[in-house]
Amino acid sequence: MYPVCHWIMLVSITDGQAGQARVRLSDCHNTADFRELARRRLPAPLFHYIDGGADDELSLARNVAAFDAVDLVPRVLAGIDEINLTTTVLGQKLGLPLFYSPTAMQRLFHHEGERAIASVASEFDTLFGLSTIGTRSIEEMGNYDAPKLFQLYVHEDPALTRDLVSRCRDAGFDALALTVDTVVAGNRERDYRTGFTTPLRLTPRSLLSFASHPRWSLNYLLRERFDLPNVSRYISAGSSVAASVMEYIDSQMKTAIDWDDAAAIIEQWGGPFAIKGLVSPDDARRAVDVGATAIMISNHGGRQLDGTVAPFDQVKAIRDEVGKDIEIIVDGGVRRGTDVIKALAAGADCCAGGRFYLYALAAAGAHGVRRATQLLRDELVRDMRLMGVGHISDLDASHLRWRHTHD
Ligand code: FNR
Ligand code: LAC
Repeated sequence: MYPVCHWIMLVSITDGQAGQARVRLSDCHNTADFRELARRRLPAPLFHYIDGGADDELSLARNVAAFDAVDLVPRVLAGIDEINLTTTVLGQKLGLPLFYSPTAMQRLFHHEGERAIASVASEFDTLFGLSTIGTRSIEEMGNYDAPKLFQLYVHEDPALTRDLVSRCRDAGFDALALTVDTVVAGNRERDYRTGFTTPLRLTPRSLLSFASHPRWSLNYLLRERFDLPNVSRYISAGSSVAASVMEYIDSQMKTAIDWDDAAAIIEQWGGPFAIKGLVSPDDARRAVDVGATAIMISNHGGRQLDGTVAPFDQVKAIRDEVGKDIEIIVDGGVRRGTDVIKALAAGADCCAGGRFYLYALAAAGAHGVRRATQLLRDELVRDMRLMGVGHISDLDASHLRWRHTHD
């Protein structure tokens, strides 16, 4: 048990927002605003875990900047009335060409955690991902009616992988995504500096940071206990024994995972399947060969191999390689509706992302995620009208002007 009285005492004598102008949810109009509210509301180790990338964070920045290096070429007098944002990926018809990528540890960012994401996903008819190291169980999340994807990390223990896949089937998950860019942990230097572990480890520094965020701290202490219910029956690290996410990955994941492993999991699952975390056209072709339904072009939000090419910059080359043989989801760097439009025009079927909704979750739970998603949806509708395109499937390369040439 944590020393609750000690925390409450510290909480009551500390004002984490002293000297800062008050920012409310209604002041958030874009992803950058949600990020700022999350920064204020979260203890530093948690904010930096979400916000940070690997090494020099080149890919983290590049993922976002890649969209800015391409210009939109709208059409006018197009007589567009209705806007249709629907797309079909992984066997699911989505109301939005954007979904919630699987992310770990959501209960730490807000006590509503995965529940907030799943309930807002059903409001917008979009898909949510549950991470292997999520903080709600496969069985609980299976009860939500939104389309649901389980993200699989292949652990050293083969029984764990088999068990996860059959639990997903029993719980009614619609799709599986195998993450392939995390065979070892990326070098997340912000996490070293803040000392981020799960369960949270109390050091004088982190204690001060937690104490200066009273609302978060009380919700952490007094609401449901943190757990990693999908893996904790096999592994205590990260669930009941404090470990950094990097230690967890390095001690638990199977490093020598290969295409045969992917094929075996596809066979066991037998349903819609994505390979998440590839950027090479050759690998995209292998994903087709192995029988995947979709690929998520991704560098894990710049959290793994720093210097990896931005997902958006690979869409065209990958589409040229695979044609219509596989669905393409662009994952990473999406902060605006126009980013989604650019990805679709370049050849993607859908986009996905983490931080656009995690900042909003940390800022205000389900209310935050709902507002962030509604704002992006409004941007998409407005921007499609301004583009002179009614249906997202009509976006194509003629709507883009690349400032660098593709060879
Ligand atoms: C992630 N991501 C991730 N991916 C995955 O396959 N399993 C996981 O458990 C996690 N966990 C995770 C935690 C946090 C805090 C973040 C920010 C990201 C990566 C995620 O699914 C997605 O690929 C990136 O977030 C995409 O980049 P953007 O949208 O954040 O720029
Ligand atoms: C991360 C892992 C858990 O990006 O995927 O933090």
